[in-house]
Order: sequence, then C-alpha cells, then structure tokens
Amino acid sequence: MVRTISELPHHLNEPAALRGWLVQRRRQGKIQFLILRDGTGFLQVTLVQGELPQEAFEEADHLPLESALEISGLVRQDSRAPGGVELAASELRILARPEEEYPISPKEHGIDFLLDHRHLWLRHRRPWATLRIRSEIELAIQEFFEERGFVRFDAPLLTPNAVEGTTELFEIDLFGEERAYLSQSGQLYAEAGALAFGKVYTMGPTFRAERSKTRRHLLEFWMIEPEMAFTTHQENMALQEELVSFLVARILERRAKELELLERDPKRLEPAAEGNYPRLTYREAIELLQHLELDVPPPALGDDLGAPHEAAISRQFDRPVFIERYPAKIKAFYMEPDPEDPELVLNDDLLAPEGYGEIIGGSQRIHDLELLKERLQRFGLPEEPFGWYLDLRRYGGVPHSGFGLGLERTVAWIAGLAHVREAIPFPRLYTRLRP
Ligand code: 4AD
Ligand code: MG
Repeated sequence: MVRTISELPHHLNEPAALRGWLVQRRRQGKIQFLILRDGTGFLQVTLVQGELPQEAFEEADHLPLESALEISGLVRQDSRAPGGVELAASELRILARPEEEYPISPKEHGIDFLLDHRHLWLRHRRPWATLRIRSEIELAIQEFFEERGFVRFDAPLLTPNAVEGTTELFEIDLFGEERAYLSQSGQLYAEAGALAFGKVYTMGPTFRAERSKTRRHLLEFWMIEPEMAFTTHQENMALQEELVSFLVARILERRAKELELLERDPKRLEPAAEGNYPRLTYREAIELLQHLELDVPPPALGDDLGAPHEAAISRQFDRPVFIERYPAKIKAFYMEPDPEDPELVLNDDLLAPEGYGEIIGGSQRIHDLELLKERLQRFGLPEEPFGWYLDLRRYGGVPHSGFGLGLERTVAWIAGLAHVREAIPFPRLYTRLRP
C-alpha cells in the first residue's frame, strides 16, 4: 500500500510503500541509511544487505541526490530516527535518476546561491517548514473570517490611482492609452465591499515599488485586508488582536514540528497567543523612545517612526504592541481624525515583538463627504479618480474601519526568520526577479 511519510506513525509494524526523493545517504558496512522526502515529511530508510535484492542494495550505494524512488518495506519504531519511525526496506525501485549532480550540496551555501536556486531550495527542510507554516496561516485566516461572518472579497490588482502614497507605484502602460498601476492595497475597494456586504476581507498580492534592501520589504507581498461597516477604531483594534492571537495559537497547535525544525522556541510565541496586547499612543511611543538606548537618533514629536524605532519598541514587550493615534500629517488621507485632537488620526500599527516591527496598519476611515474632499485636497490628490470612492460617502456613509495584515512579515515573525524573503515561495525583491 502506497503511503505518505506523514501517515507512517499510524502504521507501525505494517508493510508500506513510499514514493519520494533521496535527500541524504550514508553507509556503515552492511547497512545504508537513506533520508527520503515526499513533501509530507522526511524519513529514514534502512537498507540491510541481505534483506533486499543485492542488485538494489548496490545500486542504492551510488544513487545521486534527488533520485526519485519507490521503496517498500516494514514500518518500524525507532526512537533514534528523526520522526520516531523508519522504513526497513525490502524493495527499491528507481523512478528517476538525475544525470547531473544536484547543485545544492549539504555544505553551507550563501543566500544568493540559494535564492538563485529557489526552485530547488524549496525541497529542503527550512523552506519546507516555513512554507507549511505560511499555508497554515492562510487557511487559518480564512477560517477566522468565515466564522465571524465576513465575505471574501477580491480587490482588483490593476488600478487607476494610488492608495498609500504615490512614490511607491509600479506603473503599467495600458495599450498606450492610459496609465494603470499595480495595486498597493485593496482597501478602497474593500470599503465598497463593506458597505455592500457589511464585513469583507481581501487576501491577495499587493505591490510596492520600494527601492529598499531591508529585511522587511518585498516588491510583491500578500496582504489580508478586512473592512467593516459600523465599526470604530477601538473595535478594529480588538479584531486585530483577536486575529493575531488566533493565528499564533493555531501554529503552536498544528505546526509544532515545523517550528522545532526551524529552531523557533514556542515559548517566545506563547504570550502572543494569549492576547492582552499593550497599547501605546504615538505620543507615548515617542516618549518611550527618548528613554531607550538606540543606534539612531530618536524621532521628534511629529516624525514618523523608522524601522529601528519600531524594532526598539517591539523589544520592550513579550507580545505584539499597538501604537495608535499618529499625527494626520504623516498618515494616509482617508483616516478619521481623532475627536479628542483633530491633528491626530484614529489609526494603529501593530508591532510584532523581538524587533520584528509592524505587521499591521489599520484605521477608522473618514465617512463624511466634505471632510474627505478636504483631505484629498490637502494631500494634493485629484478628486476625479476618487469619484466612486466619494460615492461611498454620498450614499449612506457610516463609520467604518479596517486594517491590512502583511502575510510575509507575519510568517517571518512566527517562524523566526531573519528576512521576509524566505516567507514567500518566490520572493520579488529590489535586486531580484528570478527565478
Ligand atoms: O501599513 P500599510 O501600508 O497599510 C495599508 O496598505 C492599508 N491600506 C491597510 C488597510 O488599512 N487596509 O500596509 C499594511 C501592511 C504592513 O503593516 C506590512 O505588514 C505589510 O502590509 N507591508 C509589506 N510587507 C512586505 N513588503 C512590503 N514592502 C510591505 N509594505 C507593507
Ligand atoms: Mg504601515
């Protein structure tokens, strides 16, 4: 019976056949140990001379890495084997034998070499564990919103105008007739969705033409953007906390093996699964920064927080921390002013701990038509392309709020990665488009 590696622990002392690829092999006299992978996991296969045809035993001894194999044998418990089980082989069939040497050897390779070979590197343990965590998070996000009555709402990727500032737009020539841009955020469309369906969320790629080589920036990244009618800033933050703690709890529960493989200590994540995220106002954050040891000058009141500032704040807490109510001047045009101080807006950033920094940006949106027009003008944005967006206020505008969760930054934090480039199958970076 053909089984997957993941099924084997439930079939101890039974015969099984496996199909997979050769990852590693070593020989100790009459025994060979092969490590096989099949996508569901990694398994040790033992070949004992005399327990399988001699020809197969000899052939195995010369197999190149990444040979595709079908191996039959007996599933056995073995506490020394990784995963606790092994297969004692009685038959071995070669399905595909590489003619050329596999380029990724067990020795250490530099990151550029690995990224150049990303299509093959995906087969290895670290990407395997990381991208399974990503997949689990994507599923959990859909479950979270489904359970709460949200409608999935897919925003367009080709858009006629900017959302989050005009300097980071990828421009596309539409048949020489019109210019279009790759979407920076589905938010404005999600707002239309919220006023049609009550609660929606988008989940898809977004694009930022950022010429930065930081560990937090991709040119193409995935964002999840919920948007809710009749929802205030406070309720918006409560949902963010609920979502993030749900995701962390889910990974701790279902992806413990992957975390272990990545040497990510689950203890570091446990507080984030509990909720109770501290909340600082922007002003309190600036004051805190003025008392912390930093490698860079602290921001003055009115300045935006840089990545090193966010990192420093996020190291002060054992779980994500909110920073809310930034100055309107340094934030997007659509944010609702703070009724207690109209120079501020009802927004928040959620920073992940351990120096990871911002994973969410969100806000309550302006719902008053005249105020929104005034803000467009103040931000130097033309009214015409936003005509439809203003309609959302013309016809039954109500307080509504939403946020954007960056998927790769969330995965990078949960998986404990040093860089977001490993959190997506094929990263698109300032200096990398291939493979
Ligand atoms: O803070 P941002 O720019 O917010 C928005 O786009 C809002 N329209 C969201 C909304 O309210 N619906 O981006 C949201 C998140 C960031 O917190 C970050 O996690 C991620 O998107 N992000 C990036 N991730 C990877 N690479 C980049 N270049 C990113 N830029 C933003
Ligand atoms: Mg932001």
